Amino acid sequence: MAVYLVTGGAGFIGSNLVEELVRQEAQVRVIDNFATGKPENLKPFEGKIDFREVDICDLKALMEAVRGTAYVLHQAAIPSVPKSVIDPIASHNADLTGTLHVLWAAKEAGVKRVVYAASSSAYGENPELPKREEMPARAISPYGLMKYVGEEYCRLFTQLYGLETVSLRYFNVFGPRQDPSSQYSGVLSRFITAMLDGRRPVIFGDGEQSRDFTFVANVVQGNLRACHAPGVAGKMYNLACGRRVDLNEVVTQLNQILGTSLVPVYEPSRVGDIKHSLADISHAATELQYTPSVQFEEGLRTTVEWYRQNL
Ligand code: UD1
Repeated sequence: MAVYLVTGGAGFIGSNLVEELVRQEAQVRVIDNFATGKPENLKPFEGKIDFREVDICDLKALMEAVRGTAYVLHQAAIPSVPKSVIDPIASHNADLTGTLHVLWAAKEAGVKRVVYAASSSAYGENPELPKREEMPARAISPYGLMKYVGEEYCRLFTQLYGLETVSLRYFNVFGPRQDPSSQYSGVLSRFITAMLDGRRPVIFGDGEQSRDFTFVANVVQGNLRACHAPGVAGKMYNLACGRRVDLNEVVTQLNQILGTSLVPVYEPSRVGDIKHSLADISHAATELQYTPSVQFEEGLRTTVEWYRQNL
């Protein structure tokens, strides 16, 4: 039976991938160094997965962990734009050198395919919407740049070494197990946990900025399709819902779900914040057979319920 390796499997997106693979009774190996991932995210899968505490920056340990696997779902990263601005070297090591290690280890181990967690932040400040894969990348943060160069490494490994790779540009993913504890955490995790606690959500700017918020189950589906779709090696796809929602609307919907009437606190915009983000997902639809099966409202309800039960 084919073994799936999830790097960063104790993190938010990684642990959701692990959950689905375990549900499908696949053989799952997981590595994490617990830099941002948490042991409790893997607790429900104890005894069902082969967990190894490995840092992707440790090439020797990584090569050992990749051996014998067929599909590598590479999620391990320091997944933060602001952190990459504060400490670009740490982000470079984890996000780019770490990715090069994963690709090299996968090539050496004869892995069938690597699916890489890329990021919409590669598009940068180009205001044109929706974002199409053909548009040039123009990152405005070290994180966006590294995630973009990671894609290029994937493409090159396919071209040079015949290692099959697929890059998926995630757009503002949210859902169960997203860590709300840092000021840089994803906005939905911040809003939901504040409002569940009866606190007013803080909006940076006028709240009219919008994002293509993508429920994590859609990202899981996209990854699994990317493992098996024919004729896609070396390619990159947007992974999103193809619809944007602004932050004022998010707060309105959360008030409805929670039965509250909390008014946001408006603070100055974040430096480098982009105004709108929206993906064209037609390539993923036709070539990966990807369809975002959970729409924003349903994902929001599920996520609220999860935080209600787990906080
Ligand atoms: C960006 C990237 C995303 C990447 C993520 C990692 C884009 C389009 N998206 O997300 O691909 O994975 O960084 O860091 O480049 N906000 C508030 N209040 C809060 C928190 C945030 O108003 O408490 C606002 C932000 O200013 C921003 C929006 O909410 O306008 C979304 O912020 P966030 O969730 O941090 O994600 P992005 O910066 O869009």
